[in-house]
Amino acid sequence: MKILINEFIIAEPMKLLAKYYIIEDADIGENTIIRDFVNIFGCKIGKDCKIATFVDIQKGVVIGDRCKVESFAFIPTGVTIEDDVFIGQHVSFMNDKTPKAYDPEWTPMPTLVKKGASIGAGAKIICGNTIGKGALVGAGAVVTKDVPPNTVVVGNPARVLRKVK
Ligand SMILES: CC(C)(COP(=O)(O)OP(=O)(O)OC[C@H]1O[C@@H](n2cnc3c(N)ncnc32)[C@H](O)[C@@H]1OP(=O)(O)O)[C@@H](O)C(=O)NCCC(=O)NCCS
Repeated sequence: MKILINEFIIAEPMKLLAKYYIIEDADIGENTIIRDFVNIFGCKIGKDCKIATFVDIQKGVVIGDRCKVESFAFIPTGVTIEDDVFIGQHVSFMNDKTPKAYDPEWTPMPTLVKKGASIGAGAKIICGNTIGKGALVGAGAVVTKDVPPNTVVVGNPARVLRKVK
């Protein structure tokens, strides 16, 4: 396995606990590039991905191949992202519809992003929803329902604008 951290090749990715990034117990695919200040643990990231600065990817998350995750994206437990997905800057996923500070019974609510979808900058994806194959979520949208495949949605709450061209 070959991992690129700031474009330097690191041979043993599981030992990466350096000053400017935390990567613990992560299965990261070949040629994936990860920038500084990330917090990545207990997850699986495919090959040929790009993970930008200040990205948080939590335990149990699965990200496919050739995905691009831009700065400040938050990807918590419960999120699954298929191949060729674009996640814009400051995109927030969630895993709890009715969050409480302490709840011993809590289980994460899942979210699925299907192959080839793109999520615009600053979008919020309420958990329990699926972003369809090839869909495009507009910048700043708040997704409260499933997004149909190959469809552009915008606004709060996100509504269909048009089909993807
Ligand atoms: C959603 C998007 C693809 C629409 O682009 P488009 O098809 O060219 O749409 P237009 O600019 O012609 O706008 C069509 C209508 O949708 C509205 N609209 C466009 N983007 C919107 C958005 N993000 N949120 C709310 N409304 C939006 C426009 O105001 C316009 O409304 P009107 O018809 O009432 O005037 C684009 O605006 C967008 O948000 N792309 C994501 C960009 C991004 O986040 N990139 C991240 C990496 S840099």
